[in-house]
Amino acid sequence: MIRLGVIGTGGMAGEHAKAFKEMDGVEIVAACDIVEQKVERYAEKHGVPATFTDVDQMLSEAELDAVTNVTPDAQHHPTTLKAIRAGLHVLCEKPLATCYGEAREMAEAAQEAGVINMVNLSYRLSSAIHRAHEMIAEGVIGEVRHVEAGYLQSWLAGREWSETSPGSYLWRLSTAHGSTGVLGDLGVHIIDFTTYAAGDLASLDCRLKCFPKVEGDRIGEYVLDANDSAAMTVEFQNGALGLIHTTRWAAGQGNSIRLRIWGDRGAIKVDLDEAWGALQLCELSDGGRAEWKTIECGSAPSIFQRFITSIQTGENDQPDFARGAQVQKWLDACFESDAKGGPVQV
Ligand SMILES: NC(=O)c1ccc[n+]([C@@H]2O[C@H](COP(=O)([O-])OP(=O)(O)OC[C@H]3O[C@@H](n4cnc5c(N)ncnc54)[C@H](O)[C@@H]3O)[C@@H](O)[C@H]2O)c1
Repeated sequence: MIRLGVIGTGGMAGEHAKAFKEMDGVEIVAACDIVEQKVERYAEKHGVPATFTDVDQMLSEAELDAVTNVTPDAQHHPTTLKAIRAGLHVLCEKPLATCYGEAREMAEAAQEAGVINMVNLSYRLSSAIHRAHEMIAEGVIGEVRHVEAGYLQSWLAGREWSETSPGSYLWRLSTAHGSTGVLGDLGVHIIDFTTYAAGDLASLDCRLKCFPKVEGDRIGEYVLDANDSAAMTVEFQNGALGLIHTTRWAAGQGNSIRLRIWGDRGAIKVDLDEAWGALQLCELSDGGRAEWKTIECGSAPSIFQRFITSIQTGENDQPDFARGAQVQKWLDACFESDAKGGPVQV
Protein backbone atom coordinates (compact mmCIF):
# COMPACT_ATOMS: atom_id res chain seq x y z
CA MET A 1 0.00 0.00 0.00
CA ILE A 2 1.46 3.37 -1.04
CA ARG A 3 1.22 5.86 1.85
CA LEU A 4 0.35 9.24 0.33
CA GLY A 5 0.44 12.72 1.89
CA VAL A 6 -1.37 15.78 0.51
CA ILE A 7 0.36 19.19 0.70
CA GLY A 8 -2.15 22.04 0.39
CA THR A 9 -5.83 21.23 1.01
CA GLY A 10 -7.68 23.91 -1.00
CA GLY A 11 -10.05 23.53 -3.96
CA MET A 12 -8.01 21.30 -6.25
CA ALA A 13 -6.90 18.99 -3.43
CA GLY A 14 -10.51 17.74 -3.30
CA GLU A 15 -10.09 16.41 -6.86
CA HIS A 16 -6.87 14.65 -5.82
CA ALA A 17 -8.61 13.03 -2.84
CA LYS A 18 -11.52 11.82 -4.99
CA ALA A 19 -9.18 10.33 -7.58
CA PHE A 20 -6.80 8.58 -5.17
CA LYS A 21 -9.61 7.24 -3.00
CA GLU A 22 -11.05 5.40 -6.02
CA MET A 23 -7.75 3.58 -6.66
CA ASP A 24 -6.39 0.35 -5.24
CA GLY A 25 -2.89 0.30 -3.78
CA VAL A 26 -2.83 3.83 -2.39
CA GLU A 27 -4.08 5.41 0.81
CA ILE A 28 -4.09 9.08 1.83
CA VAL A 29 -2.63 8.85 5.33
CA ALA A 30 -1.82 12.52 6.02
CA ALA A 31 -2.62 16.04 4.87
CA CYS A 32 -0.99 19.38 5.50
CA ASP A 33 -2.10 22.99 5.07
CA ILE A 34 -0.77 26.18 6.62
CA VAL A 35 -4.39 27.00 7.53
CA GLU A 36 -5.44 24.62 10.31
CA GLN A 37 -9.18 24.94 9.69
CA LYS A 38 -8.75 23.97 6.05
CA VAL A 39 -6.74 20.85 6.74
CA GLU A 40 -9.11 19.76 9.51
CA ARG A 41 -12.15 20.21 7.24
CA TYR A 42 -10.40 18.32 4.44
CA ALA A 43 -9.38 15.45 6.72
CA GLU A 44 -12.92 15.10 8.00
CA LYS A 45 -14.45 15.19 4.53
CA HIS A 46 -12.03 12.69 2.99
CA GLY A 47 -11.31 10.49 6.01
CA VAL A 48 -7.61 11.38 6.35
CA PRO A 49 -6.26 10.17 9.71
CA ALA A 50 -3.39 12.63 10.35
CA THR A 51 -3.22 16.40 9.85
CA PHE A 52 -0.34 18.88 9.96
CA THR A 53 0.15 22.63 9.52
CA ASP A 54 3.85 22.29 8.81
CA VAL A 55 5.24 20.39 5.80
CA ASP A 56 8.53 19.49 7.52
CA GLN A 57 6.65 17.90 10.37
CA MET A 58 4.43 15.86 8.04
CA LEU A 59 7.46 14.69 6.06
CA SER A 60 9.32 13.57 9.16
CA GLU A 61 6.43 12.03 11.10
CA ALA A 62 3.87 10.56 8.69
CA GLU A 63 5.98 7.68 7.26
CA LEU A 64 5.04 8.54 3.68
CA ASP A 65 6.04 6.94 0.38
CA ALA A 66 4.75 9.78 -1.79
CA VAL A 67 3.16 13.22 -1.75
CA THR A 68 0.79 15.07 -4.00
CA ASN A 69 1.57 18.78 -3.99
CA VAL A 70 -1.53 20.97 -4.40
CA THR A 71 -0.18 24.24 -3.02
CA PRO A 72 -0.34 27.54 -4.96
CA ASP A 73 2.17 27.85 -7.81
CA ALA A 74 4.90 29.73 -5.92
CA GLN A 75 4.93 27.07 -3.19
CA HIS A 76 5.55 24.14 -5.55
CA HIS A 77 9.31 24.64 -5.68
CA PRO A 78 10.17 24.87 -1.96
CA THR A 79 7.70 22.21 -0.81
CA THR A 80 8.50 19.74 -3.61
CA LEU A 81 12.24 20.01 -2.96
CA LYS A 82 11.61 19.16 0.69
CA ALA A 83 9.64 16.06 -0.31
CA ILE A 84 12.31 14.96 -2.78
CA ARG A 85 15.02 15.40 -0.13
CA ALA A 86 12.92 13.19 2.14
CA GLY A 87 13.14 10.52 -0.60
CA LEU A 88 9.46 10.68 -1.57
CA HIS A 89 7.80 10.28 -4.96
CA VAL A 90 6.06 13.52 -5.97
CA LEU A 91 3.06 14.43 -8.07
CA CYS A 92 3.11 18.22 -8.37
CA GLU A 93 0.37 20.51 -9.62
CA LYS A 94 0.95 22.66 -12.68
CA PRO A 95 2.73 24.88 -13.48
CA LEU A 96 5.71 22.97 -12.09
CA ALA A 97 7.24 26.24 -10.80
CA THR A 98 7.10 29.95 -11.49
CA CYS A 99 10.23 30.02 -13.68
CA TYR A 100 12.43 27.66 -15.67
CA GLY A 101 15.40 27.83 -13.24
CA GLU A 102 13.26 26.53 -10.39
CA ALA A 103 11.52 23.93 -12.55
CA ARG A 104 14.86 22.59 -13.82
CA GLU A 105 16.21 22.40 -10.26
CA MET A 106 13.16 20.31 -9.31
CA ALA A 107 13.61 18.01 -12.31
CA GLU A 108 17.32 17.53 -11.56
CA ALA A 109 16.71 16.94 -7.85
CA ALA A 110 14.05 14.30 -8.60
CA GLN A 111 16.28 12.54 -11.09
CA GLU A 112 19.25 12.53 -8.69
CA ALA A 113 17.08 11.18 -5.86
CA GLY A 114 15.65 8.50 -8.16
CA VAL A 115 12.04 9.27 -7.17
CA ILE A 116 9.00 9.12 -9.45
CA ASN A 117 8.08 12.66 -10.49
CA MET A 118 5.05 13.81 -12.46
CA VAL A 119 3.31 17.12 -13.09
CA ASN A 120 -0.48 17.30 -13.22
CA LEU A 121 -1.01 18.47 -16.78
CA SER A 122 -4.49 17.10 -16.39
CA TYR A 123 -5.75 17.44 -19.97
CA ARG A 124 -3.59 14.43 -20.81
CA LEU A 125 -6.69 12.62 -19.50
CA SER A 126 -8.07 13.14 -22.99
CA SER A 127 -7.46 10.00 -25.04
CA ALA A 128 -8.03 12.16 -28.14
CA ILE A 129 -4.81 14.10 -27.56
CA HIS A 130 -2.81 10.86 -27.27
CA ARG A 131 -4.32 9.58 -30.54
CA ALA A 132 -3.58 12.93 -32.21
CA HIS A 133 0.04 12.66 -31.01
CA GLU A 134 0.32 9.13 -32.44
CA MET A 135 -1.37 9.96 -35.75
CA ILE A 136 0.87 12.93 -36.36
CA ALA A 137 3.97 10.88 -35.50
CA GLU A 138 2.71 8.19 -37.93
CA GLY A 139 2.34 10.81 -40.69
CA VAL A 140 -1.44 10.38 -41.04
CA ILE A 141 -1.92 14.08 -41.91
CA GLY A 142 1.48 14.44 -43.57
CA GLU A 143 3.82 17.31 -42.72
CA VAL A 144 2.36 19.69 -40.14
CA ARG A 145 1.88 23.13 -41.69
CA HIS A 146 -0.46 25.16 -39.49
CA VAL A 147 -1.81 25.00 -35.92
CA GLU A 148 -4.49 26.87 -33.97
CA ALA A 149 -5.05 26.30 -30.24
CA GLY A 150 -7.06 28.04 -27.54
CA TYR A 151 -7.87 27.56 -23.87
CA LEU A 152 -10.71 29.89 -22.88
CA GLN A 153 -12.34 30.58 -19.52
CA SER A 154 -14.93 33.18 -18.61
CA TRP A 155 -14.80 33.77 -14.85
CA LEU A 156 -13.29 37.28 -14.95
CA ALA A 157 -16.15 38.41 -17.18
CA GLY A 158 -18.56 37.69 -14.31
CA ARG A 159 -18.50 39.39 -10.90
CA GLU A 160 -19.06 36.28 -8.81
CA TRP A 161 -15.39 35.65 -8.02
CA SER A 162 -14.93 39.13 -6.51
CA GLU A 163 -18.11 38.91 -4.46
CA THR A 164 -17.59 35.51 -2.79
CA SER A 165 -14.00 35.14 -1.54
CA PRO A 166 -11.71 37.41 -3.55
CA GLY A 167 -8.72 36.65 -1.28
CA SER A 168 -8.61 33.06 -2.49
CA TYR A 169 -8.03 34.33 -6.06
CA LEU A 170 -4.95 36.35 -5.13
CA TRP A 171 -2.43 33.75 -6.19
CA ARG A 172 -4.12 33.80 -9.61
CA LEU A 173 -4.27 37.57 -9.98
CA SER A 174 -1.32 39.20 -8.20
CA THR A 175 2.33 38.79 -9.16
CA ALA A 176 3.37 39.78 -5.60
CA HIS A 177 1.36 36.74 -4.49
CA GLY A 178 3.36 34.50 -6.85
CA SER A 179 0.99 34.52 -9.83
CA THR A 180 2.21 34.15 -13.40
CA GLY A 181 -1.30 34.98 -14.58
CA VAL A 182 -3.44 33.17 -17.09
CA LEU A 183 -0.25 32.19 -18.90
CA GLY A 184 1.00 30.10 -15.95
CA ASP A 185 -2.50 28.91 -15.02
CA LEU A 186 -4.03 27.94 -18.38
CA GLY A 187 -1.24 28.72 -20.86
CA VAL A 188 0.77 25.88 -19.34
CA HIS A 189 -2.01 23.43 -20.29
CA ILE A 190 -2.59 24.65 -23.82
CA ILE A 191 1.14 24.84 -24.61
CA ASP A 192 1.62 21.29 -23.32
CA PHE A 193 -1.49 20.06 -25.16
CA THR A 194 -0.47 21.69 -28.44
CA THR A 195 3.20 20.77 -28.47
CA TYR A 196 2.53 17.20 -27.32
CA ALA A 197 0.63 16.66 -30.57
CA ALA A 198 2.17 19.14 -33.01
CA GLY A 199 5.83 19.11 -31.88
CA ASP A 200 8.26 21.33 -30.01
CA LEU A 201 8.45 25.09 -30.46
CA ALA A 202 11.33 26.85 -32.20
CA SER A 203 10.28 30.46 -31.58
CA LEU A 204 7.37 32.48 -30.26
CA ASP A 205 6.06 36.03 -30.21
CA CYS A 206 3.71 36.65 -27.30
CA ARG A 207 1.55 39.52 -26.01
CA LEU A 208 0.14 39.56 -22.49
CA LYS A 209 -2.61 41.83 -21.14
CA CYS A 210 -3.96 42.60 -17.72
CA PHE A 211 -7.37 44.31 -17.81
CA PRO A 212 -9.08 46.33 -15.03
CA LYS A 213 -11.37 44.11 -12.94
CA VAL A 214 -12.27 45.57 -9.54
CA GLU A 215 -12.35 49.01 -7.89
CA GLY A 216 -8.74 50.19 -7.53
CA ASP A 217 -7.53 46.90 -9.00
CA ARG A 218 -6.25 45.62 -5.72
CA ILE A 219 -7.31 43.30 -2.95
CA GLY A 220 -5.91 44.54 0.36
CA GLU A 221 -2.20 45.20 -0.12
CA TYR A 222 -2.05 43.18 -3.35
CA VAL A 223 -2.23 44.85 -6.77
CA LEU A 224 -4.07 42.72 -9.37
CA ASP A 225 -1.36 42.97 -11.99
CA ALA A 226 -1.00 39.43 -13.37
CA ASN A 227 -1.84 38.87 -17.05
CA ASP A 228 -5.32 37.59 -17.84
CA SER A 229 -5.10 37.29 -21.63
CA ALA A 230 -2.23 35.87 -23.68
CA ALA A 231 -1.91 35.60 -27.46
CA MET A 232 1.08 34.23 -29.33
CA THR A 233 2.23 33.36 -32.78
CA VAL A 234 4.64 30.45 -32.82
CA GLU A 235 6.92 28.54 -35.16
CA PHE A 236 7.42 24.83 -34.54
CA GLN A 237 10.69 22.97 -34.97
CA ASN A 238 9.03 21.08 -37.84
CA GLY A 239 8.58 24.44 -39.61
CA ALA A 240 4.82 24.82 -39.07
CA LEU A 241 3.32 28.14 -37.97
CA GLY A 242 0.69 28.45 -35.27
CA LEU A 243 -1.50 30.61 -33.08
CA ILE A 244 -1.96 29.83 -29.38
CA HIS A 245 -4.13 31.91 -27.08
CA THR A 246 -5.71 31.85 -23.65
CA THR A 247 -7.89 34.18 -21.60
CA ARG A 248 -10.19 34.39 -18.58
CA TRP A 249 -12.39 36.91 -20.37
CA ALA A 250 -14.21 34.62 -22.82
CA ALA A 251 -17.84 35.07 -21.75
CA GLY A 252 -19.82 31.91 -22.47
CA GLN A 253 -16.73 29.66 -22.50
CA GLY A 254 -16.56 28.15 -19.02
CA ASN A 255 -13.56 25.93 -19.70
CA SER A 256 -12.93 25.35 -23.41
CA ILE A 257 -9.91 23.72 -25.03
CA ARG A 258 -9.66 23.35 -28.78
CA LEU A 259 -6.74 22.34 -30.98
CA ARG A 260 -6.68 22.21 -34.78
CA ILE A 261 -3.68 20.93 -36.69
CA TRP A 262 -3.41 21.03 -40.48
CA GLY A 263 -0.90 18.97 -42.43
CA ASP A 264 -0.21 18.66 -46.14
CA ARG A 265 -2.28 15.42 -46.31
CA GLY A 266 -5.10 16.21 -43.89
CA ALA A 267 -6.09 17.70 -40.56
CA ILE A 268 -6.97 16.83 -36.97
CA LYS A 269 -9.37 18.63 -34.63
CA VAL A 270 -9.55 17.98 -30.89
CA ASP A 271 -12.31 19.90 -29.12
CA LEU A 272 -12.80 19.02 -25.45
CA ASP A 273 -16.18 20.79 -25.40
CA GLU A 274 -17.29 18.16 -27.91
CA ALA A 275 -15.45 15.05 -26.68
CA TRP A 276 -12.45 13.97 -24.63
CA GLY A 277 -12.35 10.53 -26.21
CA ALA A 278 -12.85 11.30 -29.90
CA LEU A 279 -11.22 13.48 -32.52
CA GLN A 280 -12.12 14.68 -36.00
CA LEU A 281 -9.84 13.53 -38.81
CA CYS A 282 -9.73 14.86 -42.33
CA GLU A 283 -7.78 12.75 -44.81
CA LEU A 284 -7.40 14.21 -48.26
CA SER A 285 -8.39 11.77 -50.97
CA ASP A 286 -6.13 11.35 -54.01
CA GLY A 287 -8.35 13.84 -55.80
CA GLY A 288 -7.76 16.36 -53.00
CA ARG A 289 -11.32 16.13 -51.62
CA ALA A 290 -11.60 16.84 -47.87
CA GLU A 291 -13.67 14.36 -45.88
CA TRP A 292 -14.07 14.56 -42.13
CA LYS A 293 -14.72 11.56 -39.94
CA THR A 294 -14.93 10.94 -36.21
CA ILE A 295 -12.23 8.73 -34.71
CA GLU A 296 -13.20 7.14 -31.38
CA CYS A 297 -10.15 7.03 -29.11
CA GLY A 298 -11.32 5.07 -26.04
CA SER A 299 -10.18 6.31 -22.66
CA ALA A 300 -6.85 7.31 -21.14
CA PRO A 301 -5.64 6.89 -17.55
CA SER A 302 -5.57 10.04 -15.43
CA ILE A 303 -2.27 11.52 -14.27
CA PHE A 304 -3.23 10.31 -10.76
CA GLN A 305 -3.43 6.74 -12.06
CA ARG A 306 -0.23 7.13 -14.08
CA PHE A 307 1.57 8.39 -10.96
CA ILE A 308 0.52 5.40 -8.86
CA THR A 309 1.32 2.93 -11.67
CA SER A 310 4.74 4.58 -12.07
CA ILE A 311 5.49 4.04 -8.38
CA GLN A 312 4.32 0.43 -8.60
CA THR A 313 6.34 -0.40 -11.71
CA GLY A 314 9.33 1.90 -11.10
CA GLU A 315 8.90 3.32 -14.62
CA ASN A 316 8.34 7.07 -14.66
CA ASP A 317 5.44 7.88 -17.00
CA GLN A 318 4.85 11.24 -18.71
CA PRO A 319 4.45 14.14 -18.14
CA ASP A 320 7.42 14.13 -15.76
CA PHE A 321 9.25 17.07 -14.18
CA ALA A 322 11.60 17.32 -17.16
CA ARG A 323 8.54 17.89 -19.39
CA GLY A 324 7.16 20.35 -16.82
CA ALA A 325 10.48 22.24 -16.98
CA GLN A 326 10.42 22.22 -20.79
CA VAL A 327 6.96 23.81 -20.82
CA GLN A 328 8.13 26.28 -18.16
CA LYS A 329 10.96 27.34 -20.46
CA TRP A 330 8.39 28.25 -23.13
CA LEU A 331 6.35 30.17 -20.54
CA ASP A 332 9.46 32.14 -19.57
CA ALA A 333 10.04 32.88 -23.26
CA CYS A 334 6.49 34.29 -23.47
CA PHE A 335 7.32 36.81 -20.73
CA GLU A 336 10.61 37.67 -22.41
CA SER A 337 8.88 38.17 -25.76
CA ASP A 338 6.15 40.35 -24.25
CA ALA A 339 8.74 42.49 -22.42
CA LYS A 340 10.77 43.12 -25.56
CA GLY A 341 7.77 43.33 -27.88
CA GLY A 342 9.12 40.81 -30.39
CA PRO A 343 9.90 37.18 -31.14
CA VAL A 344 12.16 34.98 -29.03
CA GLN A 345 14.01 31.83 -30.14
CA VAL A 346 13.38 28.93 -27.80
N1 LIG B 1 -4.37 20.57 -13.02
C1 LIG B 1 -5.41 21.37 -13.03
O1 LIG B 1 -6.24 21.31 -13.94
C2 LIG B 1 -5.60 22.37 -11.92
C3 LIG B 1 -6.86 22.94 -11.63
C4 LIG B 1 -6.95 23.85 -10.57
C5 LIG B 1 -5.81 24.18 -9.85
N2 LIG B 1 -4.60 23.61 -10.16
C6 LIG B 1 -3.37 23.95 -9.43
O2 LIG B 1 -3.49 23.44 -8.10
C7 LIG B 1 -2.79 24.32 -7.21
C8 LIG B 1 -3.74 24.71 -6.07
O3 LIG B 1 -4.88 25.34 -6.61
P1 LIG B 1 -6.22 25.50 -5.74
O4 LIG B 1 -7.23 26.01 -6.66
O5 LIG B 1 -6.47 24.27 -4.96
O6 LIG B 1 -5.76 26.67 -4.74
P2 LIG B 1 -6.31 26.97 -3.28
O7 LIG B 1 -5.88 28.35 -2.96
O8 LIG B 1 -7.77 26.62 -3.20
O9 LIG B 1 -5.52 25.92 -2.35
C9 LIG B 1 -4.16 25.99 -2.05
C10 LIG B 1 -3.99 25.57 -0.60
O10 LIG B 1 -2.59 25.48 -0.31
C11 LIG B 1 -2.39 25.98 1.02
N3 LIG B 1 -0.97 26.32 1.17
C12 LIG B 1 -0.33 27.46 0.75
N4 LIG B 1 0.98 27.37 1.04
C13 LIG B 1 1.17 26.17 1.65
C14 LIG B 1 2.32 25.53 2.18
N5 LIG B 1 3.53 26.07 2.12
N6 LIG B 1 2.16 24.32 2.76
C15 LIG B 1 0.92 23.74 2.84
N7 LIG B 1 -0.20 24.32 2.34
C16 LIG B 1 -0.07 25.51 1.75
C17 LIG B 1 -3.35 27.13 1.14
O11 LIG B 1 -3.63 27.47 2.48
C18 LIG B 1 -4.58 26.57 0.40
O12 LIG B 1 -5.46 25.90 1.28
C19 LIG B 1 -2.28 25.49 -8.06
O13 LIG B 1 -0.93 25.29 -8.36
C20 LIG B 1 -3.13 25.43 -9.31
O14 LIG B 1 -2.44 25.91 -10.45
C21 LIG B 1 -4.50 22.72 -11.18
